[in-house]
Amino acid sequence: MYIGSIDQGTTSTRFIIFDKQGNQISVGQKEHSQIYPHAGWVEHDSDEIWSNTQEVIGLALGKANLSPLDIAAVGITNQRETTVVWNRFTGQPYYNAIVWQDTRVGNMVAELANEGGADCFRAKTGLPLATYFSGLKLKWLLENVEGLREDAEEGTAIFGNIDTFIIWHLTGGTDGGIHITDVTNASRTQLMNLQSLAWDDDILTKLNIPKAMLPAIKSSSEIYGEARGVLSGVPVAGDLGDQQAALVGQTCFAAGEAKNTYGTGCFMLMNTGEKITPSTYGLLTTVAYQFGNHPVQYALEGSVAITGALVQWLRDNLEIIKNSAEIETLANSVEDNGGCYFVPAFSGLYAPYWQADARGVIVGLTRYVTKAHIARAALEATAFQTLEVLEAMEKDAGIEISSLRVDGGMVVNETLMQFQADMVDVPVVCPAMIETTALGAAYAAGLAIGYWEDLDDLKQNWGIAQTWKPDMEASKRDNLYHYWKKAVTRSFEWEE
Ligand code: G3P
Repeated sequence: MYIGSIDQGTTSTRFIIFDKQGNQISVGQKEHSQIYPHAGWVEHDSDEIWSNTQEVIGLALGKANLSPLDIAAVGITNQRETTVVWNRFTGQPYYNAIVWQDTRVGNMVAELANEGGADCFRAKTGLPLATYFSGLKLKWLLENVEGLREDAEEGTAIFGNIDTFIIWHLTGGTDGGIHITDVTNASRTQLMNLQSLAWDDDILTKLNIPKAMLPAIKSSSEIYGEARGVLSGVPVAGDLGDQQAALVGQTCFAAGEAKNTYGTGCFMLMNTGEKITPSTYGLLTTVAYQFGNHPVQYALEGSVAITGALVQWLRDNLEIIKNSAEIETLANSVEDNGGCYFVPAFSGLYAPYWQADARGVIVGLTRYVTKAHIARAALEATAFQTLEVLEAMEKDAGIEISSLRVDGGMVVNETLMQFQADMVDVPVVCPAMIETTALGAAYAAGLAIGYWEDLDDLKQNWGIAQTWKPDMEASKRDNLYHYWKKAVTRSFEWEE
């Protein structure tokens, strides 16, 4: 028997089948459309996502010649915060999914911050006011989609992040689909109280969000229901936001253990155990996971919105590379960044700045600078942003990080990983299984049904594939970082 994992990310959907040792047996993957109706707006077609989900499940099963009978349980992991509202009786979405990177609620952020300060919800939710989280996106939908508020108040229109949306469809949709989420996803809505792990009535009132439209909050690992259709009969037993899933996939189960995932954005999470650790250096306090009845575990998170997405932008918008892999060759055709720095504040700046009105800048340009320097500056931006987050993490947690566990698509870029080690000045360690996000959701599902017995069982599956050691003089590192910091200030307060 195997465990299946649906990984619904920002750019694509995958279904991966794992065995007991955490090996990948089969994978199906499909990209979906990115919809940009206005500058700063990012949407997905949720129906396309659900249809792709079914397709990739079929693909992965077919490739390995397996049927749902071979799958002991399925876990779901997802791009977090992305907001969907649909009709519980027809299954019809009321609007495209508003993606986490979307900045349309910038004005609401500013208004609320004027009234009560940027940290008015932080004590309860662990999160600063930002365009990033679901609560304000949902408020925007309720205020801008005709008829939605009435339907929401009577419980016809229901809200979910992508996990909720997929689980609802997977368990029957209009024919009895269950409407749930887990504590990790709920912690990213800015509507859940971190202490009580329940929807916070004061915040719901403040944002005028009807409680009837919200899903029930469950643990990250328990049998929620049974799948129908393409996975007919398989217990649906795990649900984790994708960054929390990667933390689990990297087996960071002890307080102080951290990982950094390089995907569309970059997300560093440190397990802080049963303790809610408030941040004073620009990080988020969030739920790490909760396995069944075990105590909930919390984390500190440094979220960076644009890293891999910048490589895609160079490919699709500037067309200076043909595919993502080409960025490494282009960046390596020059010795250094030629004085060029690229701050990709396309969705404002997230951690540690939380500047909703920042926008991207390329600075330090002279006639000497070529597209190769820009490619290099784009890669370096990922490493600089990670260093900023790591510094904040060490200050907030009061712990020095002695090595950085990494995963995600960009870790295949050796140039980036070496530069990352040089910048953070500690070894950067990559595990043998880099599909840690999907693996984490599989672990959550497998634990719920006893496929894996306990956390020790999971830890045995983790092994190192590669380590990059720092190899740069301190003076050179300091100089690069100094100019990066200067470049960041140039991106501030662009939108008025
Ligand atoms: O918070 C956003 C994050 O969950 C997106 O992750 O991997 O889809 O870029 P990813």
